[in-house]
Amino acid sequence: MAHYRAVGEVPSKRHTQHRDPDGHLYREELMGEEGFSSDSSLLYHRGVPSAIVASEVWELPDQTRTPNHPLKPRHLKLHDLATDKDAVTGRRLVLGNNDVRIGYVVTGVDPSPYYRNAIGDECVYVEAGSGTVETVLGVLSYRTGDYVVIPRATTHRWVPSEPSQLYAIEANSHIAPPKRYLSRFGQFLEHAPYCERDLHGPTETFVRDGEDVEVLVKHRTSAGIVGTRMTYATHPFDVVGWDGCLYPYTFNIDDYMPITGKVHQPPPVHQVFEGHNFVVCNFLPRKVDYHELAIPVPYYHSNVDSDEVMFYVGGDYEARKGSGIGLGSISLHPGGYAHGPQPSAIEASLGVDYFEESAVMVDTFAPLDLGEGGLAVEDPAYAWTWAGRGPDAGGDAAVFSNS
Ligand SMILES: [Fe+2]
Repeated sequence: MAHYRAVGEVPSKRHTQHRDPDGHLYREELMGEEGFSSDSSLLYHRGVPSAIVASEVWELPDQTRTPNHPLKPRHLKLHDLATDKDAVTGRRLVLGNNDVRIGYVVTGVDPSPYYRNAIGDECVYVEAGSGTVETVLGVLSYRTGDYVVIPRATTHRWVPSEPSQLYAIEANSHIAPPKRYLSRFGQFLEHAPYCERDLHGPTETFVRDGEDVEVLVKHRTSAGIVGTRMTYATHPFDVVGWDGCLYPYTFNIDDYMPITGKVHQPPPVHQVFEGHNFVVCNFLPRKVDYHELAIPVPYYHSNVDSDEVMFYVGGDYEARKGSGIGLGSISLHPGGYAHGPQPSAIEASLGVDYFEESAVMVDTFAPLDLGEGGLAVEDPAYAWTWAGRGPDAGGDAAVFSNS
C-alpha cells in the first residue's frame, strides 16, 4: 500500500547507525514485497530479528479440501460452528483453493498465540466483536465491520476484548485496493468508494520485553500448507521505530460509500480489495435503482470464470429472500451454473428504493473446494430452492439480492 508512514524513532538516513541512549546499535530489518522491487518498510529492532532457539512442527487445524462435486450451489451456516476458540488456531477452514482460503472462528477473550502467515496477506473481516491486534509494527484496534489487513509475514496476535466473530480471508498473494481505484503513483482517485482517510494503521510503536517467545508460522512446502513453531531468543515486539509503505491497517465497512445507478449496477462497483485470482466486494445499505421500471435485485447471471461466495453479515438480503439464508450464512454459487434471485424475491423488490443489507463477497477465478468447517454446517436443501423441489421431494425450500 503506497501510503508512507513513520512511527517511533528512525534515523534521518536509511542504512546508517541508529543507537539507543546507551550507544547500542539497533538492528535494521527491511520487510519488503516482491524481492526488493515493491512496497517495503524499514524496522529498527532492539534485538536480533533472526535469533531463534528452537523450531518445531505446529500441527495446523484440519486443512482438508473436498471438491464441489457433483456441482451445486451451497449454503453454509457459519453461526453453527463452535465458539470460544482463539483467533488463529481456532479457525475452521470453510472454503479454499490454491489462491485463497476462507476460515471462520468465534473467539473467547483469551489472546491468540503470536503468529504470522508466511504464505500471503490476510484480510480478516470482523463480523462482530472488538479488541486489538498487536503487531510488530504497533497496535490496531478492531471493531465490528472492520477489515483487518495484515501483510504477509507480519508477526502479530489477536487480543479480543469481547468474543469476536472473525471471517479470515487468507491469500497466497498480496491483498490491496483495486488498481483502477489508484493513480499511477498509488493515490486513491476521486471515483474510488473510499480513500486514504479511511485506512487506519499503527500510530505508535509497541515494544515488549521477553525471552524464549513462541511464534506460530504458517508456511508452504512441497507437501502443501504446514505450520512451524519458532522460539525467539528475545521478544519479537522490539521495534522502536519504522517507516515505509508496508504495514497492517483496518478499514471499516461503514466508510465505504456505495455506488448506485438508474438501473442495476454489477458487483465490480462494490469492490473493496483484490488479490491474485480473487476479489473482495461488499454490498451495503444503499439507495437502489431509480429507473421507473427498474428491477432492483440482480438479473440471473453465470459468472463463467469464477466461483462466488457471499457472506451475509447484516440486514435482510433482498435477492435471497425465500432461500433459508440468514445472518451468518454463506452462499457458494460456483462457475458453470447460473444463479440469481429466488423467483419470489424479484416481485418483492419492485418499487423498493433502499436495501438494508450487508454482505461480504469473495469471487475466485479458480474453483473453491469445501473445507471441513464448511461441510460441517451445510444446509443440504439450498440447491433446490429455486425449483421448489429436489431429489428429496418436499425438502424445505429455502430463499436472499445482489449476487
Ligand atoms: Fe452473483
